[in-house]
Amino acid sequence: MKLSLIAALVCAVVSLPAVAADVTYRNEVAPMLKKYCAECHSAKAGAPSMAEFNLDQEKFKKEKVGPLSDTYEHLLQLVNGKSTGAFMRRLDDGTSPYAGGKPGNMYKYLCEQDNKDNNAECAANLLVLKAWVGEGGWNLNRMSARGDVPALTKEQMDKVKVKY
Ligand code: HEC
Repeated sequence: MKLSLIAALVCAVVSLPAVAADVTYRNEVAPMLKKYCAECHSAKAGAPSMAEFNLDQEKFKKEKVGPLSDTYEHLLQLVNGKSTGAFMRRLDDGTSPYAGGKPGNMYKYLCEQDNKDNNAECAANLLVLKAWVGEGGWNLNRMSARGDVPALTKEQMDKVKVKY
């Protein structure tokens, strides 16, 4: 019992720098998305490109597939490309400005669905994604203002790291 507690603590301490250090698409993000998102967001799942998705979102919602995000290039559309901030809006845990205190509707997929303890895993995975996007780069704003949400600023945009 004691030993496993020590092991858990050692693991926690050892894995912390991994988040703080450079998180890359290759090493952390791609495997995570493959595990939790590919089921509905990959070519294999019949997911549409971003352009196709935007033509008929209702159709794809019914088919339960979201835009392709199984390559770095596709994913970046949702992070700092044409659909800037979509990644952050959908995956936020509800604590970021403009989240309105509500987690994005894809946040729950960031962990095992049948694991009772999944909140902790979702939270840990979100931290990894936030570290990948970069300090100050996780913003829910769009390219243009919408409602009370101002447009993304150049300063915010410049903070986005998303290392391959
Ligand atoms: C069970 C299927 C399913 C899983 C698993 C899933 N998604 Fe989705 N996702 C969808 C569907 C369907 C949509 C489109 C409907 C909507 O907008 O909610 C969507 C939409 C999105 C969008 C918004 C795209 C846009 O342009 O507005 C993002 C970002 C996203 N998902 C990211 C993810 C990530 C990251 C994961 C993994 C952690 C994930 N999704 C897991 C089905 C899924």
